[in-house]
Amino acid sequence: MKKNLLGFLLLLCSFSGFGQTTAKLNAPTNQELKINKHIYGHFAEHLGRCIYGGFYVGEDNKKIPHTAGIRNDVVDALKKLKIPNLRWPGGCFADTYHWKDGIGPKSQRPTIVNSWWGGVTENNSFGTHDFLNMCELLGTEPYLAGNVGSGQVQELADWVQYVNFAGEGPMSKLRRANGRQEPWKVKYWGIGNEAWGCGGNMTAEYYANVYRKYATFVSDWNNTGGIYRIASGANSGDYNWTEVLMKNIPKSLIEGVALHHYSVIDWNKKGPATDFSDEQYFTTMKRALFMEELVTKHIAIMDKYDPEKKVALVVDEWGGWYDVEPGTNPGFLYQQNTMRDAMIAGVTLNIFNNHCERVRMANLAQAINVLQAVILTDEEKMILTPTYHVMEMYNVHQDATFLPLEVKSADFAFNNEKLPAVSGSASRDQQGVTHITLVNIDSKKANDISIDVQALKLKSVSGRILTSKSIQDHNTFEKPNTITPANFKGASIKGNNLNVKLPPFSVVVLELK
Ligand code: AHR
Repeated sequence: MKKNLLGFLLLLCSFSGFGQTTAKLNAPTNQELKINKHIYGHFAEHLGRCIYGGFYVGEDNKKIPHTAGIRNDVVDALKKLKIPNLRWPGGCFADTYHWKDGIGPKSQRPTIVNSWWGGVTENNSFGTHDFLNMCELLGTEPYLAGNVGSGQVQELADWVQYVNFAGEGPMSKLRRANGRQEPWKVKYWGIGNEAWGCGGNMTAEYYANVYRKYATFVSDWNNTGGIYRIASGANSGDYNWTEVLMKNIPKSLIEGVALHHYSVIDWNKKGPATDFSDEQYFTTMKRALFMEELVTKHIAIMDKYDPEKKVALVVDEWGGWYDVEPGTNPGFLYQQNTMRDAMIAGVTLNIFNNHCERVRMANLAQAINVLQAVILTDEEKMILTPTYHVMEMYNVHQDATFLPLEVKSADFAFNNEKLPAVSGSASRDQQGVTHITLVNIDSKKANDISIDVQALKLKSVSGRILTSKSIQDHNTFEKPNTITPANFKGASIKGNNLNVKLPPFSVVVLELK
C-alpha cells in the first residue's frame, strides 16, 4: 500500500510541471577562498567583426560616436559589465600575428592575410597602442596572447619590453617614438594558443619544451616584473596535455595553464543558433555541464604536481558554438544569442565559482559579433545579448568570498537521459551581502528549491531574474529589449529556509542580508 502511495506521488510530481530541489548554503571555508574577478574575463580576436566594426570603427568615422576609433556605446556597455580582463589578439590569429606590424603611423602599416578567419585582408590599423589604450578606457586588464606558432622568442621578448619597460632601451625608445611615454604594465601573457592545433600542431612534450624557452625570455631570473605566464592548454578532455605540461614545466616558469572547451553539438553539424530543437537544446546543455567534469579532472591532475595550487587553471575560451547566421561569412563566426546561451553562461559561471580555488581566470568567447557574444553590432546599432545580462547579474561574485552551496537537484530529463536541472553558486561581498546565483535549465518545468541557510542567519531576500516566453527568444536590432533582467518575487525566507520558485529556463541572482 505504502509503495503504491509513493508511486502515485512520484507520478503526480512528474505530471505537475515542477521539480523539487534542495540545497544547503555553508559558511566560508576555513581558508576564506575568493572568487577571482578574472573568472569574468572576455576575449577579442581579429576575427570577423569582433575588432573591426565591433570594438573599433576607425578614427575618421563620422556615423558612429567614438573615442580614438573605439565605439563609445560599446565602452559604456562593457564598463557596466565590469569586465576584469580582455584577451587579445587571438585565438588562432595570435599565432599568425607579428606585433610590430601594428605599431607606428597607420598609413605605413603592412597588410597581412587573416588566414584562419575568412582569408580577409588585415590592415593592422588596430594594433598594440589601440588595444592597450582601449583597455585603459574600459578599465580592464589586458591579457596579451603571444605568437609562438609562427613567431620568434626574440619577437615576444621585444613585445614585453615594448609595453612594460620603463627605463631606457631599444623597445621603450620605439614605444616613446610612437607616442606612449609610460609603459602599460601588462601582467597577463599567453605563451601561444592551442599549440596542439592552429598554434603549431605540436605534441604536448614538444610544446612543453618550447614553452620553457619562451617563458624564460619573457621574464628575468626572478620574474621581477611579476609577469603571469599562461601556457596554451588542453582541448577539452585531453588530460594527457595537462599532465605533460604540469610534469615538465618548472613551477618557477608558469603561473597558469589554459583549457578550451566549447559547448558544440557536433563539429560537423553544429545546428542553428536560434531555431534549435528540444534535442539540440538538451545536447547543448550536456556539453555545457561537461565543464564540471572537465575542470574536476584537470584540477585533479594539477593537484598531483602542484598541491600548493600555485598554478591557476585558466579557461581562456568557453561558450556556445553554432552554425553562422544564414548569409554571413562562414569564417566570421557570427551567431545570434538566445536564452539557451543564457543557460550556458549561468551554469558555466556557477561551475567556475564553485572551483574558484584553482579556476582563477576565464574568458568567454568572444566579446562582440563572434560566437557567444555579449554585444552584437550592425553599423551604428548595438544590442546586448542574454549572455550580457547573465554576466552583468553575476558580477556581484567578483572578488567576493566563496560560500559553498550544495545542491541536490531535480532531473531535467529528455528521452532516456537526465541532467541536473538546477545549479548554483554563492558568495559574500565586502559589505557582508550574500549573493546566490541559480539556474534552472529545464526548458519545460519550473523548479521549487528549498535552501537551508541556517549557517548564515539570513533575514531578507530580493532578486532579479532573466527568462522569457520561449527558449529560442533573443534580442534583435528591431526589438533589443525582448530579454532583459526583471525584478524577481519568487523567493522568500521562512526560519532557516530560503524558498525559491525558479521558472523553466531561468537565471536568478538573489541578494540576501
Ligand atoms: O574562438 C574562436 C577560435 O576557437 C579561436 O581562435 C581558437 O583558439 C579556438 O579554436
